[in-house]
Amino acid sequence: TSSSASIGIEDLELAASHHVLDLGRLAEARGVDPAKYTRGIGLDEMGVVAADEDVVTLGASAAARLLERTGTEGLRTVLFATESGVDQSKSGAVIVHGLLGLPSSVRSVELKQACYAGAAAVQTAIGIVARRPQEKVLVIAADVARYGLGTSGEPTQGAGAVALLIAADPALLAIDPVSGVYSADVDDFWRPNDSTTALVNGRLSISAYKNALLGAWDDLQAQGGPGVDELEAVVYHQPFTKMAVKAQRFLDQHTGGRLDPEALEQGAVYDRRLGNTYTASLWAGLAALLDHREGLEGRRIGLFSYGSGSAGEMLTGTVQPGYARPERAAATRAALDARVPVTVEEYEELHERLLGSDEDVETPRVTTAPFRFAGVQEGARKYEATA
Ligand code: HMG
Repeated sequence: TSSSASIGIEDLELAASHHVLDLGRLAEARGVDPAKYTRGIGLDEMGVVAADEDVVTLGASAAARLLERTGTEGLRTVLFATESGVDQSKSGAVIVHGLLGLPSSVRSVELKQACYAGAAAVQTAIGIVARRPQEKVLVIAADVARYGLGTSGEPTQGAGAVALLIAADPALLAIDPVSGVYSADVDDFWRPNDSTTALVNGRLSISAYKNALLGAWDDLQAQGGPGVDELEAVVYHQPFTKMAVKAQRFLDQHTGGRLDPEALEQGAVYDRRLGNTYTASLWAGLAALLDHREGLEGRRIGLFSYGSGSAGEMLTGTVQPGYARPERAAATRAALDARVPVTVEEYEELHERLLGSDEDVETPRVTTAPFRFAGVQEGARKYEATA
């Protein structure tokens, strides 16, 4: 029957910001031992958006490159997952839909539950495809993580987007119907409507992550999902890559298993250089694992999504034959390498520069990505292709 067809990720694509800040420079400016960032929290760099970039331009750029490969046949839904959206009412999906020139017969909507919204969008997409297997869904997870300057969250900022095409008989990863879920109302991290930066209780956020991980794991087991011995690796939400190390330790202690620590490093290659990309972080981790680990075909992996507030989900899926795409891996590495470094002063200036909606402003032309944020006109944000 149509509902038992395998469904999952047909293809994916990562987009990086125009700028990058080396965390060694930030450590120096903040009077911190650089090893605290590189080893203690496990981040080398963080993506910094240019004045003409935001989640819409990052998401549209990732989606454009993805759809160049896959085409748009069967595409009837765009789901945009973000917690740093550009409007309280209009979705990023509808703007991306316009920028990509998609037909009007494609529905467009945005989803929110902190970093978990990316996994929520994937599950929603799978439901749509299960109902009508000829349909495909474009999922975009895009975020710009912002904490206050000089706060302990500062080195865990970042920027990036991952676009995923969800389809039946997927070429990369067939996602299992059973997953483990967990929700609990916690004030570990949030962003009030009148704040441009997130507020966070760092210690509480780590224990809330742990509770969601173990709760989702137990639910997966209760639902009859695979045990730890059946998993080749687990990819985690990575607000900073050391969090994945902690998570794997929690899971090993909880299950009595021992997941492969090498897979952790392979799944952290992109997140170490992006910083926290919130909704996109887990999928950047998946991209990194697929790009750096051999012999995954036919193997089952776990994917743990955590969103503060809080929601967790442990998904599992089977990696498909031919999953290795050296060209895509090389393009991702090139996009990360091509980011233009900023000094701490330049980063601070960009961090504080936020456009209101009360005056018409044109943004400087900086990004070389396919799309840019052109500025504000009569209160509305305007976007355009760069070429
Ligand atoms: P902190 O207080 O600055 O750091 O905040 P610390 O003192 O806890 O040190 C961090 C680690 O560095 C420790 O390692 C130190 O030992 C080590 P650990 O004990 O944890 O293994 N360290 C060093 N290592 C080597 N050389 C040195 C050195 N000095 C110290 N010289 C914190 C860290 C992560 C709390 C902070 O950055 C923060 O608040 N970040 C934001 C919150 C966050 O990312 N939470 C993660 C879980 S919540 C989540 O994932 C959701 C989220 O993505 C949002 C969403 O869902 O939307 C955040």
